[in-house]
Amino acid sequence: MEIPVIHTPRLTLRGYRPTDLAPLQAMVSDRETIQYFPRTEPWPAAVLVRWMASLAEHWETYGYGWFVMADRVHDTTLGWCGLRRLEETGEVEVLYLLGKAYWGQGLATEAARRCVEDGFRRYGMDLIVGLTHRDNTGSQRVLEKSGLVFGEEAPYFGMTLFRHTIDRARFAAVYGA
Ligand SMILES: CC(C)(COP(=O)(O)OP(=O)(O)OC[C@H]1O[C@@H](n2cnc3c(N)ncnc32)[C@H](O)[C@@H]1OP(=O)(O)O)[C@@H](O)C(=O)NCCC(=O)NCCS
Repeated sequence: MEIPVIHTPRLTLRGYRPTDLAPLQAMVSDRETIQYFPRTEPWPAAVLVRWMASLAEHWETYGYGWFVMADRVHDTTLGWCGLRRLEETGEVEVLYLLGKAYWGQGLATEAARRCVEDGFRRYGMDLIVGLTHRDNTGSQRVLEKSGLVFGEEAPYFGMTLFRHTIDRARFAAVYGA
């Protein structure tokens, strides 16, 4: 299916292009950027290529998904963000990664809020979860600024992760009906 192109004030969320590969490879080769991921070693190129292929497959299968995150003006590749169905639980997760050069400008929050909003308004979801390593306070803050609330620690991806959630009632309260 055609992956939508979404604009926020500073971002374009769009499908993957081959020119995104090199900048994304640099991001997933940076140990600080991936320190809280299940894989903390730099990603081999084949793993990244497979992950990017799964972006299109996910859209095809579920009709929603995740995006390459790019600068709205210059289309510079900044990272990725979006919604992903978790096979192990059937839940929908909001996910994001930004290259280090782009941290600290509110961009992850801008992206996550738009994805959460689309999850409820456009795709009619009932619940969205956010999963973080317990030490990933930056990501937890992004989730909280996007309206998600910490619930408990729970097992995902072979790890024990913080689980934040937002349901329809909370969405309406935070984002407006
Ligand atoms: C975590 C990450 C997404 C944050 O992106 P960002 O665009 O810098 O986040 P924002 O600018 O929207 O910041 C959101 C809030 O978190 C805070 N924050 C960001 N990084 C932080 C950190 N390392 N420690 C503590 N707080 C942090 C910001 O101060 C801000 O809070 P405030 O508005 O109250 O000051 C980014 O650092 C990243 O991509 N890291 C690597 C990949 C990753 O961990 N992804 C999430 C996997 S669960």
